[in-house]
Amino acid sequence: MSRISLTHLRKLQNKGEKITCLTAYDTSFARLIDQAGVEIILIGDSLGMVIQGHDSTLPVTIDDMIYHAQMVHRGTERSFLIVDMPFMSYATPDAALKNAARLMREGQVQMVKLEGGAWLADTIQLLTQRGIPVCAHLGLTPQSVHQLGGYRIQGRNENEAEQLREDALALQTAGASLLVLECVPKQLAVEIRDELLIPVIGIGAGAECDGQVLVLYDILGITPEPIPSFAKNFLTGSIKEAIEAYVVAVKAGEFPDETHCFK
Ligand code: KIV
Repeated sequence: MSRISLTHLRKLQNKGEKITCLTAYDTSFARLIDQAGVEIILIGDSLGMVIQGHDSTLPVTIDDMIYHAQMVHRGTERSFLIVDMPFMSYATPDAALKNAARLMREGQVQMVKLEGGAWLADTIQLLTQRGIPVCAHLGLTPQSVHQLGGYRIQGRNENEAEQLREDALALQTAGASLLVLECVPKQLAVEIRDELLIPVIGIGAGAECDGQVLVLYDILGITPEPIPSFAKNFLTGSIKEAIEAYVVAVKAGEFPDETHCFK
């Protein structure tokens, strides 16, 4: 069985089939997710919170990400693997290139994800020109939690919304192949999706995105209460059934519903 490629993800986008994505951090969960037909597995730096027990993603290191990416890689055959570049590992273009190369080579992933707006354009150009595909991440960017003043919905006023629209275009122009859009009003997500050619994967961004991503532990109800309002606990039977139910709900356009969106 061959791994899903970016070309395959673009085909799903073009035919209007929703792209599914979940986070994973180890071999056993990654295997279940892979076997349930989830197209993308994100080795997210959310592991700093859900695995390591920190109160933010900031303490996570490149070595942590490589360690978890290797475990996820071993458990999977088909899913497209994206790894987060952790806090400060891409503060300069040179640092980004060195660290992304390690993640690709040692972590054996297909893409790296970076949080931030147009200031990342030069970095994304540098990485993509050297063969490292990039997923951009806009909206609520957890590595900037202190700058943002907390885990808050983004893009609610017109200035912020315009900034996000401009950032999204700049990141696509620089070479990003995917965009994760986190915690923005659903109408803004529609506008950004309509302006871009690349797939937009939403989390707390409404049902109209090209795909959805959630943190695995949120869909399994393991995250301490309250789980984020945009997430849903899919666990009613086995873990395998919960992951399959997430896939069915996203593909059918039934998740997220109005209760998981921001206006
Ligand atoms: O780290 C992570 O898990 C993420 C997702 C929430 C998108 O970035």
